[in-house]
Amino acid sequence: MNRLRPRTLRGQLTAGLVVLLAAACLAVGVTTALALRGFLMGRLDEQLIASGGRFAASLEHEAEPDADNGPDTRGQSENTFGARLLNGDVTRAAVIDDATDRPLRLTAEDRRTLADVPVADGAGHSVHLSAFRHGYRVTAVRGDDGDVLVTGLPLHPVEETVHRLEAVEAALFGAALVGTGFAAALWVRISLRPLHRVTARAAEVARLPLAGGEIVMPRPLPDADPRTEVGQVAGALNHMLGHVEDALLRRQAGEERVRHFAADASHELRTPVANVRGHAELALRHDGPVPAEVRHALERIGSESRRMTRLVDDLLLLARLDAGRPLAHEPVDLTLLILDATDDARAAGPGHHWVLDLPEEPVRITGDVHRLQQAIGNVLANARTHTPPGTEVTVTLSTGPAGVHVEVSDNGPGIPDELQAEVFGRFVRADRARSRSTGSTGLGLAIVRAVVTAHGGTATVTSRPGRTAFRLTLPA
Ligand SMILES: Nc1ncnc2c1ncn2[C@@H]1O[C@H](COP(=O)(O)OP(=O)(O)O)[C@@H](O)[C@H]1O
Ligand SMILES: [Mg+2]
Repeated sequence: MNRLRPRTLRGQLTAGLVVLLAAACLAVGVTTALALRGFLMGRLDEQLIASGGRFAASLEHEAEPDADNGPDTRGQSENTFGARLLNGDVTRAAVIDDATDRPLRLTAEDRRTLADVPVADGAGHSVHLSAFRHGYRVTAVRGDDGDVLVTGLPLHPVEETVHRLEAVEAALFGAALVGTGFAAALWVRISLRPLHRVTARAAEVARLPLAGGEIVMPRPLPDADPRTEVGQVAGALNHMLGHVEDALLRRQAGEERVRHFAADASHELRTPVANVRGHAELALRHDGPVPAEVRHALERIGSESRRMTRLVDDLLLLARLDAGRPLAHEPVDLTLLILDATDDARAAGPGHHWVLDLPEEPVRITGDVHRLQQAIGNVLANARTHTPPGTEVTVTLSTGPAGVHVEVSDNGPGIPDELQAEVFGRFVRADRARSRSTGSTGLGLAIVRAVVTAHGGTATVTSRPGRTAFRLTLPA
């Protein structure tokens, strides 16, 4: 049953309308058929009573049916039935056939039926005699000599008329149902069209990545009549869209403020940090006896302030990339860039084996050469600083349908499992305790991803002990 029920509101409304109409048609059909039948029966009874048993009376004089003495069939309609009963037993029965009477042979059952007809009650009674295929309407009157005269008219014409009406009604109602079904489906569809728009708009909003980034809200729905249910839903959705948009604007403004703050803060920090470093270096150059502890402290100040400079520079770069500062848009020879970057890495990490795999043709793209240098440099620096000496690092440059791929893979210990998912995040690094000695900040890969994304590319990593590969894909 449940499987037959339409799922959509449209289907349910249409089906409901059709079912209601079918019920109404059925009620009208049954009522009219019953009324017609009652009316025709009444007329038949009137006719029967008006005939006053004339045909049956003519059967009283039991005789050979010769021309003069025969039953009086004149004025009687075809198929009129007559019977004469004396003392509850049928003495004669006949039916008018082709304007003459035809004697009937009655069974015991028929005789009993006729004997049971109430006498002189002025009403018609439906009986079924085995001599006839169809039912008869009969009435009984008392004759002159104590006999009972039964006259009957066939029910057949009444039944036929009623059946004809039923057939016409069935055809008419069937056509009306089919027509109404289609019209209702169309009508419901048109009425629900604004609802479809509401659904589509709601789905559109549901698909928006509301959690981050700049979002363009879909236009509000056109004004619908607020007196209709659909209009109310549309109004509520518009209201909600307004709220969501408001919240989004606030969130975006908040993010903007944070970005500005980060950019301003790192920018402001650059000068004092540079000053600290300068002063430390100046103090170290002081000739004259400097106690060893003081020298050591000054050296520490120098190295820490260098680290801080890097950190502040990284933060500033990230803040600028976050703010969507436009990148330079110039031709970049990636082959050359990778050659240089690997040379630098080799110089910084002579204990590692550096392997290059470059295509024969130089690969050129459009982008910001300094940022790309920085990104690739960061990945190479990681392959050097997060693996032991003796590790082999392979830098591969290739082109494919998705763009240009720069892959840096090493056979080092790999990235800890719990770190892999967020390794491109800010301040994410494996060994915080060791980070001071290695100069690790946890911003390197965040910059890589930000630079690559700003170029319209992607940065991914796969890592297991013995093979870690960073893959930067840039649009060709
Ligand atoms: N090639 C690599 N092999 C092993 N671990 C790596 C490698 N590259 C990156 N990592 C891990 O990812 C972390 C994040 O890298 P990164 O963002 O560059 O920060 P940082 O290098 O300053 O620590 C590193 O601290 C390190 O634990
Ligand atoms: Mg790094």
